[in-house]
Amino acid sequence: MRKRPVVTVDGPSGAGKSTAAKALASALGYEYVDTGAMYRAVAYAYTREKQKPDLDHFLRSLALRFIFGKPTQVFLNGEEITQNIRTPEISMLASALSQDPRVRKYLTAMQRELGKEGGIVLEGRDTGSVVFPDAEVKFYLDADMEVRAHRRHLELRAGEPDQAATDALERVKREIEKRDKDDSEREIAPLIRPQGAHYVDTTHLDVEGVVRVLKQHVEQTSR
Ligand code: DC
Repeated sequence: MRKRPVVTVDGPSGAGKSTAAKALASALGYEYVDTGAMYRAVAYAYTREKQKPDLDHFLRSLALRFIFGKPTQVFLNGEEITQNIRTPEISMLASALSQDPRVRKYLTAMQRELGKEGGIVLEGRDTGSVVFPDAEVKFYLDADMEVRAHRRHLELRAGEPDQAATDALERVKREIEKRDKDDSEREIAPLIRPQGAHYVDTTHLDVEGVVRVLKQHVEQTSR
């Protein structure tokens, strides 16, 4: 029996998971784990290997370190790579590598260890279905494709010159469509709406609205 709950937040990209999960963790005084950042970190480390090594060997010698603040900070061989993992290329490679059972086993074990005492919000694609199927509170966040593409586009464009905005939006849309399809159709730990998860459509909600809904559910469960 855990003293404090495990809360999981799953869903496709652009559904607003990260922002909401971070804010929820802060409101509850819980730890926050961005499991997507962990998959991205593995992908980034892989791009840094000149001669692509065998995956078992690569994972055995992988020197990743995470600081689970808000956001999740990532270090590779002591060098901070928190920002480097946020590119469209790493998004696609993380999605591709996340289909490999060895990568999933490696990160799932780490995530279970992190959450075993509870008092934690984990966010990703399989946190309520595979990592913690016994989580006390599970959420599945979703939103219309147009809205999700706009959110991702804004995130990616932050700090960039405002050029070819329409083109870029179309590209972002195609990329998230492909990633959603790949993440949902893969054989192991596909993105699904976990059993018992509260479904939250964030299309017409702002961050405060989403957090309010999530917090209400957590409070009802802990009563
Ligand atoms: O949430 P994100 O966009 O940072 O995740 C990047 C990729 O990592 C996502 O397309 C699929 C993979 N991922 C996963 O397979 N399982 C998770 N729990 C989290 C992410």
